[in-house]
Amino acid sequence: MPATPKPELGDPLKAAHPSDETLKLLSLRRSTTAVMLTKPGPTDDQLEQILQIGARVPDHRRVCPYRFVIFEDEARAEFGKTLAEAYRRETPAAEEAAIAQEAGRFLRAPVIVAVVFSPQTEHRTPVWEQTLTTGAVCQNMLIAANALGYAAQWLTEWYAYNRRVLTQIGLDEHEQIAGFVYIGSAKEDPRERQRVDARSLVSHWQNN
Ligand SMILES: Cc1cc2nc3c(=O)[nH]c(=O)nc-3n(C[C@H](O)[C@H](O)[C@H](O)COP(=O)(O)O)c2cc1C
Repeated sequence: MPATPKPELGDPLKAAHPSDETLKLLSLRRSTTAVMLTKPGPTDDQLEQILQIGARVPDHRRVCPYRFVIFEDEARAEFGKTLAEAYRRETPAAEEAAIAQEAGRFLRAPVIVAVVFSPQTEHRTPVWEQTLTTGAVCQNMLIAANALGYAAQWLTEWYAYNRRVLTQIGLDEHEQIAGFVYIGSAKEDPRERQRVDARSLVSHWQNN
């Protein structure tokens, strides 16, 4: 595995990287649902590579409106207790099986990265643009994970919107979850799903 290039400030870079492999990956990219993920997950070095590539996104005025919280090893089951407790609180009539399912959510993949949207609300760069940057981080991570040979899925699910859970993760009031990026190996390869044809979304502007 070639080492990740880490250019220094001011180093010359290529304006383009013609790559059939990249086009193939992007044309065939497919999420693998979290339940279809298993071990092994990325190594520490690979995870760092995924995060570095995640952080290499267009970011107007270098706001860096995001941060990462990693869940791996025992922390996943530990966090499951938080999820189960929050779910029980939200759903008093919940059956034990449903609560157990919540407790096991983070056991679906060996590594889960919470991408936290952490906007600078007073910054000259609109929060909308900061939101777009953070979405791009998640997408870069999915692509990097796939390119390293791992399957991945970007999820939010109910707990991304539960303030009690967010506080347990360590989010401040002004922060939100952009996504939980589940990363692991696919139990089986996914199949194509319905896709939009980009041609149906196109119009050509003309000055009337
Ligand atoms: C912000 C965001 C949140 C998502 N949350 C969920 C979710 O909670 N549950 C889910 O089944 N899919 C969710 N998805 C969709 C999956 O990430 C994925 O796109 C879907 O499984 C289809 O696979 P594909 O990426 O191959 O099109 C979310 C996508 C985005 C962009």
